[in-house]
Amino acid sequence: MKKVVILGAGGHAREVLWVFEEQNKAEPRWEVLGFIDENTLNKGRDLCNLPILGDFGWFDKTASREVYVISGVGNCRTKLHFAEKAANLGLKFCSVVHPSVMMSSHVTVGAGTVIAAGSIITTQVKIANHVTVNLDCTISHDAVIEDYCTLAPGCHISGNVKFGEGVNFGTCATIIQGKSVGAWSKIGAGAVVIEDIPANVAAVGVPARIVREA
Ligand SMILES: CC(C)(COP(=O)(O)OP(=O)(O)OC[C@H]1O[C@@H](n2cnc3c(N)ncnc32)[C@H](O)[C@@H]1OP(=O)(O)O)[C@@H](O)C(=O)NCCC(=O)NCCS
Repeated sequence: MKKVVILGAGGHAREVLWVFEEQNKAEPRWEVLGFIDENTLNKGRDLCNLPILGDFGWFDKTASREVYVISGVGNCRTKLHFAEKAANLGLKFCSVVHPSVMMSSHVTVGAGTVIAAGSIITTQVKIANHVTVNLDCTISHDAVIEDYCTLAPGCHISGNVKFGEGVNFGTCATIIQGKSVGAWSKIGAGAVVIEDIPANVAAVGVPARIVREA
């Protein structure tokens, strides 16, 4: 069994734990040691029967080369922050895919990526590092989802779509085929993207319109 620690100790961290638990039922592979929380006041607290181990300083006292890590947060900037901290400590990221996920063998999944229950990912799709694909998303052929993106539950990504780094795609948002969303942009819940969206903006509605800089 490989050892893994989840970075973060909020609601999404508990959901990531559940993905590991379900994957272990299908094939026992992971021993989840607990959670890292930058709020030191939470050290020692129990979360779903596992401990909050402490802050990143916990890795100084551990044989960290034997421990994998994964971000348990959906916020794209926080995932970047965690990835930078972990890189400084020489930690390695694993990825985890819920056993109910359907995807072809022509999908690449990067390190640190979490794919939650019920998602369907078809073919020639690139899902880069530290990406969160939440519950019940669909991602179609030739889509590219770059590092640190988060797809909230129920998103639909059509064929040949390109997302730059750190795109936050809100719950039940949809993007039609061949369009792109630039790095660090935020797309509102329920939006339908029918035109390219540039980097660093927030866009909402049907069809999606830019409302501000992100
Ligand atoms: C798009 C989003 C990031 C914008 O957040 P924000 O910058 O704080 O924006 P505001 O709340 O100030 O709203 C700006 C305007 O957009 C509208 N708006 C915000 N979100 C909207 C949405 N999803 N759909 C339609 N309109 C929306 C607001 O009503 C407001 O309109 P107004 O200026 O006419 O009053 C946010 O509203 C959103 O939808 N986030 C996704 C949340 C989500 O899916 N979470 C998943 C958790 S698992």
